Amino acid sequence: MTVLVTGGCGYIGSHTCVELLELGYDVVVIDNLVNSKREVIDRITKIIGKEIIFYEGNVQDEKLLISIFNKHRIDVVIHFAGLKAVGESVKMPLEYYQNNLDSTLVLLSVMKECDVKKIIFSSSATVYGNAKIVPIKETSPVGGTTNPYGTTKLFVEHILQDLSIADPNFSIVILRYFNPIGAHKSGLIGDNPNGVPNNLMPYIVKVASKELEYLNIFGNDYPTKDGTGVRDYIHVVDLAIGHVKALEKVVKDKGVFIYNLGTGIGYSVFDIIEAFERENDIKILYKIKERRDGDVAICYADVTKAYEELGFKAKFGIKDMVRDSYNFYLKNRIEE
Ligand code: NAD
Ligand code: UFG
Repeated sequence: MTVLVTGGCGYIGSHTCVELLELGYDVVVIDNLVNSKREVIDRITKIIGKEIIFYEGNVQDEKLLISIFNKHRIDVVIHFAGLKAVGESVKMPLEYYQNNLDSTLVLLSVMKECDVKKIIFSSSATVYGNAKIVPIKETSPVGGTTNPYGTTKLFVEHILQDLSIADPNFSIVILRYFNPIGAHKSGLIGDNPNGVPNNLMPYIVKVASKELEYLNIFGNDYPTKDGTGVRDYIHVVDLAIGHVKALEKVVKDKGVFIYNLGTGIGYSVFDIIEAFERENDIKILYKIKERRDGDVAICYADVTKAYEELGFKAKFGIKDMVRDSYNFYLKNRIEE
């Protein structure tokens, strides 16, 4: 079976390619490298010892997509490609709407044209907005997104639902990720954001490596056990395995299926700092700052549906996540 992975050079896409190749799927990647490097392809090959077919190009490029679908017998598409920086999306809404919506629309129309009707889409817990009840179930209301990035995820979910109504032959799995952290145990692939990171774990790693002096903790007055924000952190390898489970679903059943991918456990910012310090034997300096605009106090998943319908259950714990995040930095520091 051949899987087209859009955005396969990125953080989650690269880990998913590894899991797919390991299980014997053929993988074709398209990525325009706007937020990743070509070298990731060589690293995936190094981990698995198998070749991977790579096209450097934009998913908005209809001609290129048609040529890929004509050349390879694609069975399923996993659509990771997209821009994902929340703050940047507020400053560059048009670029975000254009990239994330246009690429999806072009992809879906080429899929329809080429009669490939199985797709897994990367959505986000951000579609729940400020959820009133935790753990968050897939049936919780969506909407109230606080930035253009989140709104693109919501719009694509609507587009996919409408497509399924119009063409019931489509099989669509929408995965709402919670907070992916960690890296492959080889240290060859991981989260490598350009510039100053927005997200907690890459920021902590930069403090640990002394590239940044201290972590800014955005608020210690939330109604949580220690006042800091609580999130559902999931190891990226678990997340990748979740895609393999979703693949098994999408080849079997028609319609739209939505799943949370998380662990079901909420950790505070202090929990993460303490785990990181303990596991890696490094002190993380921090300062308490104002709350960050758009942040919610507590966000963690009800993971029952993914377990019952996909047989998916995250197996890595917080120790693995903080260890592997730092290991990725250490391995790459040695190679540079
Ligand atoms: P990433 O930026 O590491 O990977 C995305 C990849 O897509 C990059 O390699 C980028 O070069 C590529 N890309 C972007 N636009 C493209 C286009 N038009 N054509 C071709 N390639 C393009 O991000 P990630 O963390 O791996 O996230 C993957 C997906 O999951 C994204 O859609 C993201 O919005 C979603 N998601 C991520 C998180 C998270 O915390 N990392 C949480 C929820 C959802
Ligand atoms: N935080 C800090 N300091 C930092 C960065 C984060 O204190 O420098 C705190 C935040 O306030 C929050 C927690 O750490 O309480 C996690 O923040 P992240 O930025 O790592 O993650 P978010 O939950 O804000 O958002 C992430 C992705 C979104 C996605 C969402 C849900 O960035 O794209 O998870 O999946 F939508």
